[in-house]
Amino acid sequence: MAKVLVIGSGGREHALCYKFAQSPYVEQVYVANGNGGMDDVATLVDIDILDFEGLIAFAKENKIDLTFVGPEIPLCAGISDAFQKAGLSIFGPTQAASQLEGSKCFAKDMMHKYNIPTAKYASFDDYEKASVYLSNQKCPIVLKADGLAAGKGVIIATTMEEAQKSLKDMMCNDLFKEAGTSLVIEEYLEGEEFSLFAFVNGKDVYPMQIAQDHKRAFDHDQGLNTGGMGAYTPVAHLPQSAVDEAMEKVMKPIAEAMVLEGMPYQGILYGGFMLTDEGVKTIEFNCRFGDPESEVVLQAMTSDLYQTIMDVMDHKEPVITFSKEAFLGVVLAAEGYPQSYQKNIDLSDLKLTSPACFHMGTKKTDKGLVSSGGRVLFISQSAPTLKEAKQKTYALIDEIKREGLFYRSDIGDRELSKETD
Ligand code: AMP
Ligand code: GLY
Repeated sequence: MAKVLVIGSGGREHALCYKFAQSPYVEQVYVANGNGGMDDVATLVDIDILDFEGLIAFAKENKIDLTFVGPEIPLCAGISDAFQKAGLSIFGPTQAASQLEGSKCFAKDMMHKYNIPTAKYASFDDYEKASVYLSNQKCPIVLKADGLAAGKGVIIATTMEEAQKSLKDMMCNDLFKEAGTSLVIEEYLEGEEFSLFAFVNGKDVYPMQIAQDHKRAFDHDQGLNTGGMGAYTPVAHLPQSAVDEAMEKVMKPIAEAMVLEGMPYQGILYGGFMLTDEGVKTIEFNCRFGDPESEVVLQAMTSDLYQTIMDVMDHKEPVITFSKEAFLGVVLAAEGYPQSYQKNIDLSDLKLTSPACFHMGTKKTDKGLVSSGGRVLFISQSAPTLKEAKQKTYALIDEIKREGLFYRSDIGDRELSKETD
């Protein structure tokens, strides 16, 4: 029986712990540095996700068989390289391969070089040049900070005035700190967005079922971009041909390209796609599972996560299966998120456990459970139809909603509005 160490502290990691804990091959799941609500499925380990020495020492002492990394920050900082050097088994890309997420300029240049469909773009580290280029573009136009910005480093400007102001704020006024001093200016894509996760090892690419996230803070896609406010899977109104196209034209070619470039990819690869009138185009790559999409996709996965990863690491074809039910989940976030937000919201009466409730940002204190993050809880349900899953999820939210927490009330409506058309 195996011992698994999950790295990270959000809802995605709670879902990962839940899924690993279900495996008959796994005897114990540890999570560093897990949040207050995860102890229903894992043992919390108080080591920082960037303390690689500490994590390696823990993994050796506790004879961890597999370490799985949730967030991008330790991956981009080289956690997989450090574990591999120490002779430990870890599923997650190296620092070089993580550039697919860590640098938007790197990702765009790779797509350009290998003819992978994506929005037209140009990269800049010089403000004057960027400003001149921008003035010759049409609006809406998209500005993306090169570096990591927790899903918030993207500005979609609808007027040239707004675009020029945002450009200046990013490149000269530290809007996204260091992440924005170089940036990508790219064409605005219109269409249906979807998230596709795949298990990758070198040229082997095995997809999961797709999901749809809801990036904007408020209903009807209003407000700022966030890390994601809700998700559902499957996405029945998107044709299988779009998923096949994403696999054949993007996921497999980029995995091959990374091998050719001497940076073979091993881990979860997340493709963010737009299905446009001209076919599927890549919006971005992430070097890990999406949050909150993975909270529903991992629940929908009926096959064993641990066995799947073992097979992929051994270059064996894994068996990956999914439930026929629909899964829908909603983020309860602290007022103010994604900007500065309220903390220490009282959650001491919360009785829900996983999988109905995954904790995204909570902590245990003397006074009981309180919120500690911008995204606080992920509440989800499954049902034979998406409509029923939505009703069940919002019924649960009605029981636990409170002052200080806000949520979108339209998760899943993109699909549901199509069903009633
Ligand atoms: P990213 O961090 O690249 O995923 O961007 C965050 C979000 O901004 C995406 O999920 C899209 O909703 C939106 N977005 C990014 N790039 C584009 C684009 N070229 N056209 C339209 N929307 C975009
Ligand atoms: N939900 C989007 C992300 O994880 O980046």
